[in-house]
Amino acid sequence: MNARSSLTVVLAAGEGTRMRSSLPKVLHPVAGQPLLAHVLHAAPHDNGSRLAVVIGPDHQEVASEVRRIRPDAETFIQRERLGTAHAVLAARAAIQRGADDLLVAFGDTPLISAETFDRMRAPLQNGAALTVLGFRAADPTGYGRLLMQGDRLVAIREQADASAEERKVTLCNAGVMAFDGRNALKILDRIGNANSKGEYYLVDAVTIVRDLGLEAVVIETSEDEVRGINTKTQLAEAEGVMQARLRKQAMAAGVTLIAPDTVYLAADTKFGKDVTIEPFVVIGPGVSIADGAVIHSFSHIVQATIGRNTSVGPYARLRPGTSLGDGAKIGNFVETKAATLEAGVKVNHLSYIGDTEIGANSNIGAGTITCNYDGFTKNKTIIGKGAFVGTNSSLVAPVKIGDGAYIGSGSVITKDVPDDAMAVERSQQSIREGGASRYREAKTRGKKPKA
Ligand code: UD1
Ligand code: CA
Repeated sequence: MNARSSLTVVLAAGEGTRMRSSLPKVLHPVAGQPLLAHVLHAAPHDNGSRLAVVIGPDHQEVASEVRRIRPDAETFIQRERLGTAHAVLAARAAIQRGADDLLVAFGDTPLISAETFDRMRAPLQNGAALTVLGFRAADPTGYGRLLMQGDRLVAIREQADASAEERKVTLCNAGVMAFDGRNALKILDRIGNANSKGEYYLVDAVTIVRDLGLEAVVIETSEDEVRGINTKTQLAEAEGVMQARLRKQAMAAGVTLIAPDTVYLAADTKFGKDVTIEPFVVIGPGVSIADGAVIHSFSHIVQATIGRNTSVGPYARLRPGTSLGDGAKIGNFVETKAATLEAGVKVNHLSYIGDTEIGANSNIGAGTITCNYDGFTKNKTIIGKGAFVGTNSSLVAPVKIGDGAYIGSGSVITKDVPDDAMAVERSQQSIREGGASRYREAKTRGKKPKA
């Protein structure tokens, strides 16, 4: 909690042409969330903080994503893409309303942390007009260079405008800036476009601050935190950095990852105590895993709630809307979707369970399929508690199986089965003595036997 109020303006109007994708750049995912979502989560959240996102004119998808992630955020459209300072001023109406601190961040820099925003605000409290986030680049090509005199920041030079000498500087501009709100608009309005690209560069704020006799300060961070995403390669690199962080956090919270590098987590994955995740597991967004659960290898889990002391996989696929009660067991080659399995339910082998509710302690045999789709609509299967569904049964929804009911193997169940009833439905089996050897003889003669 900061005593000063803040407005964070997130720039996301770029085309992202180098992603070679029809999806707007800031909506590409890292750890199961759009790039933009990471930045919006890291931006100050407390009561005195507001948020504005600047988007491109054809980016309605981005606007609706912003509403989903941070409903309190305002969006502004930058109609022409005339540079980073021009983009910030697209949010002029929000800036004019005033805040103690004006923060500017980029929507394509997903690894930025909340602590860094806090660190950048501290110098403003002590009288600086501007804080710039800097980092030491392994390869500074393409970045704006921070030009220092001693420990004073005097200018930021973009690659295209930099001299050979200036290009040797490895201290670079991360892009994130923090302005003292009192002077922010005055500084932004003075930025011109007299540079090789004819763009309004936010980085020119530094020389203006100096000309006004005010102070600009640099705060340094690691290159990993400020990786900007322009290409699919950089997207993959950011994913790598983010996954390393998430695995470390999970292990620090007590999760056992047997082979951490093979486990993929989402930024919002929630773990209880004593959870074990075996090698090669993929966890997508919206997953929580309670105490004592074991996720076996090669399982894929998205939007699912997994209860205590459950066992999932190996080779399980839990799709959105899956909820597993305490002690439930999902075995190999089982797929679930929109399925609530109460405590102690077992679906041990080779099944599809979709649009289904299963009461406590029911046992679903190998190869059971809930036939939820009739080609037109999705229909529900409701199974009571303590029921037994024999192997290779098809439950043709909509259908209800009562508490304690018993379904014989190989049944195709199309009608509701009352509590405690037994239902068996099989095609007639015909037995002909010696039929098998007659079949084999016919085969050696290459002649199909008569039925
Ligand atoms: C910018 C910085 C550079 C810094 C680098 C760090 C400027 C002038 N340069 O360069 O010093 O080292 O980031 O990654 O600020 N955007 C808009 N509208 C525009 C232009 C940009 O919304 O008219 C947004 C982009 O979507 C992006 C961000 O601003 O999120 C940065 O723009 P980009 O063109 O990527 O700037 P860089 O050339 O990378
Ligand atoms: Ca960039």
